[in-house]
Amino acid sequence: MALRTIRKMGDEILTKPCREITEMKHRTKVLIRDMLDTMYESNGVGLAAPQVGILKKVVVIDVSEEGDCPLVLINPEILELSGEQTDQEACLSVPGVSGAVTRANYAKVKAYNEDMQEIIIEGEGLLARALQHEIDHLSGILYVSKVEGELQPVPQEE
Ligand code: NI
Repeated sequence: MALRTIRKMGDEILTKPCREITEMKHRTKVLIRDMLDTMYESNGVGLAAPQVGILKKVVVIDVSEEGDCPLVLINPEILELSGEQTDQEACLSVPGVSGAVTRANYAKVKAYNEDMQEIIIEGEGLLARALQHEIDHLSGILYVSKVEGELQPVPQEE
């Protein structure tokens, strides 16, 4: 298991746009493994490559309760959004706080998997939220720019 350092808000890399992956190299496969390890270790439901300092369009998500349903999205692109949901959102790059964000309740996303095969992911609720949050990271957008009202402190894990 290899953990990577999570970049925190204030780090310029989190505000920069990411480049597309054109071919799956060994280096990117290692990045994906490390991102999954880092996400699970931090009890996150998603992580985008710029959060570990890499400006590439790579996202990992797992919204399952058991943490055994990893989704790997290369070059993800939103095809469709509909409905609306407002809920508390948080980010591993903005520790210790959460804030209310309104997002689409349904999202349809086109991406590539680790074998660079095209995949379509559809999700509602938390999965739709995670897809929108993580894909925003690839454009250098943090959820804090979308928060309604104030950020709320959340208890830190020991
Ligand atoms: Ni985030």
